[in-house]
Amino acid sequence: TITCVIMAGGKGERFWPKSRTNLPKQFLNISGNKSMIQQSITRLEKIVDISQIFIVTNELYAELLKAQIPHLPTSNIIIEPVGRNTAPCVGLASVIIEEKFPDSTMVVIPSDHIIENDEGFIKIINTAVEVAQDNSNLVTLGIKPTYPETGYGYIESTNETKQLNDLQVHKVNKFVEKPDAATAQSYLESGNFYWNSGIFIWRNSVIRNYIKELMPQMHDLLETMKTAFGTPQRDEVIRTEFAKMPDQSIDYGIMEKVNNIYVIPCVFGWDDVGSWTALERINELDEDGNVIRGNILNLDTKRCIIESNGKLIATLGIEDLIVVDTEDVTLICTKDKAQEVKLLLKELRMQK
Ligand code: GDD
Ligand code: MG
Repeated sequence: TITCVIMAGGKGERFWPKSRTNLPKQFLNISGNKSMIQQSITRLEKIVDISQIFIVTNELYAELLKAQIPHLPTSNIIIEPVGRNTAPCVGLASVIIEEKFPDSTMVVIPSDHIIENDEGFIKIINTAVEVAQDNSNLVTLGIKPTYPETGYGYIESTNETKQLNDLQVHKVNKFVEKPDAATAQSYLESGNFYWNSGIFIWRNSVIRNYIKELMPQMHDLLETMKTAFGTPQRDEVIRTEFAKMPDQSIDYGIMEKVNNIYVIPCVFGWDDVGSWTALERINELDEDGNVIRGNILNLDTKRCIIESNGKLIATLGIEDLIVVDTEDVTLICTKDKAQEVKLLLKELRMQK
């Protein structure tokens, strides 16, 4: 069996002020007329039945999820009482899915990506599932890098390559999460590296063995949770044990430390819509290179990203800026600081 795990607990802080704690970016229509999570579900339903799709999210978003995806069985919503990043998210999903589907092959996928070509996506997922079912392989989907992004993981492929369903499957030499700028530049130049798309495919038993080996504290907490399955204490035990989880991403916790990873280069258009500058990649630009959304009057304005919430925004003589107006906040930021928008939020919380 194939099961899908959509990780949807992120706060989307780099999309502030449009993305808010009570409405993060995966629930917004950033591209198209459906939210990113609705788009993800529609795509995955071309591969599996809705009963095989699980969404892991914070309890803050459970109601939003039910409203946006009414046909998702409630028991497929896996609730985290607190956010502990993606390793605990995967761990929790692993034990809960095992209750219903013993040793399924899990497709773990972020909630907030844009994928342009569904056919390519389906083909690559089915191929990745074959590779993951083979033995204890972990499979990643890689993106050919185009610039030295420091917000991504990098995957170094080896020459050990096989062909499967006309796709290349490369054995991985190493996985490096979020390298510094100089390292990212050298990876880009070497030509052997892919960006990690953040989509992982593995057998449930395989990832659990790695958790046991590399994150033993988390493993013990998961085992304690399992002892309460089938009892009235189930949800309460999950809640208390989950709160004790370490705050760690699956990339740092597992992927950087294991050997048998395979990467399949993506054959579908991918964008992780990581920050405001992503809008330049996914929208049409005007003749001055601007992305303009909403009620905007611009003269002599170049390479800006401007989004109005109804009120007229008028700009003159500005370049390389992000201007986002919402009901209660207006963000004005240079494009090269787009990754750091979350610092403003941190500052704001400290002032409160
Ligand atoms: N349920 C749950 N709980 N989901 C979470 C949590 C959590 O605590 N934290 C993050 N997520 C979800 C986010 O909503 C997103 O869909 C996904 O997990 C990845 O989290 P990000 O916070 O966006 O990770 P990142 O962008 O810093 O890095 C990851 O993605 C990059 C590609 O977009 C890494 O896997 C990188 O290696 C990768 O290149
Ligand atoms: Mg991300």
